[in-house]
Amino acid sequence: MKFSRIPVVHCFARSGIWAAAAVFAGAAMAADEVNLYTTREPALIQPLIDAFIKQEGDIKVNTVFVKDGLLERVKAEGARSPADVLMTVDIGNLVDLVDGGITQPIQSATLESVLPANLRDAQGHWFALSLRDRVLYTEKDLPITSFTYEELADPKWKGKVCIRAGQHPYNTALIAAKIANDGAAEAERWLRGVKANLARKAAGGDRDVARDILGGICDIGIANSYYVGQMKNAAAGTDNRKWGDGIKAIRPTFAKTGGTHVNVSGAAVAKHAPNRNNAVKLLEFLVSEPAQAMYARSNYEYPVRANVQQDPVMSAMGPMKIDSLSVVEIAKHRKQASQLVDKVGFDN
Ligand SMILES: [Fe+2]
Repeated sequence: MKFSRIPVVHCFARSGIWAAAAVFAGAAMAADEVNLYTTREPALIQPLIDAFIKQEGDIKVNTVFVKDGLLERVKAEGARSPADVLMTVDIGNLVDLVDGGITQPIQSATLESVLPANLRDAQGHWFALSLRDRVLYTEKDLPITSFTYEELADPKWKGKVCIRAGQHPYNTALIAAKIANDGAAEAERWLRGVKANLARKAAGGDRDVARDILGGICDIGIANSYYVGQMKNAAAGTDNRKWGDGIKAIRPTFAKTGGTHVNVSGAAVAKHAPNRNNAVKLLEFLVSEPAQAMYARSNYEYPVRANVQQDPVMSAMGPMKIDSLSVVEIAKHRKQASQLVDKVGFDN
């Protein structure tokens, strides 16, 4: 996600804006509160929080928007941290919170029944709240109806492929999945092939892939799915809308598994959560049907529960077959993927 730069602490509550000091001055101990630390965009989070407050009535939510350094901050706060729920994107970030020792295991029949085993930690240290797949953007008139990630390396696309930096977490996760599926040697051969097909330096953001397809720089590229919903639903006449209208999006699959590469947004309950029960209530709400519909319709993310209505732009991409590879397995290969990006000079 591309976030607007937000200062480290903004606390919102039912009754307006709270000073950060209020959270730290003991308000965290009140029985009817929950303190949410999130790296996600306020425009997405606030409607979800408002809906939670409306449902629960007597639970106040203090939200702290943290742009960077969530792990470091909660570690520094130590046992006195007021944090109850830690929310972020990317499986790597979630695993880092767990490995950093700032989460606790949660057992919840609701979370366990809604989320399949590959979308939550086996011990309950983190839970996925939404999905985002890494999809193919193509020039809108190209006759492509299906695609494998492996085809990105096909010489027929020489000079035609756009993508952001290989070292960006969205791409290291994709490359890590390729390593996990096919082994390091095959992944290297593939990544060298993709590199040889690049139309321009691997850089910029995901929406730049659509921009550069419209600009005739490339024909195809890889980027996250929710940007398709954002761009195609943008106001008429804006750059985003023009870029969105210039592409079509297809869900690629890995040749070996027939599944599409997916990453998660998710949350964990903090190790020293002063309001643990309310933290669990909040997580359970976030996987509920109304909350999942908000993730799907407002942020164009793929819901973690079945039968949630999506935005028409997103449902036009058809159903998603999630790669069977566990996101945890992907996270284990992150470092190897990053080293491979350097080894093949992908971002040079
Ligand atoms: Fe993004």
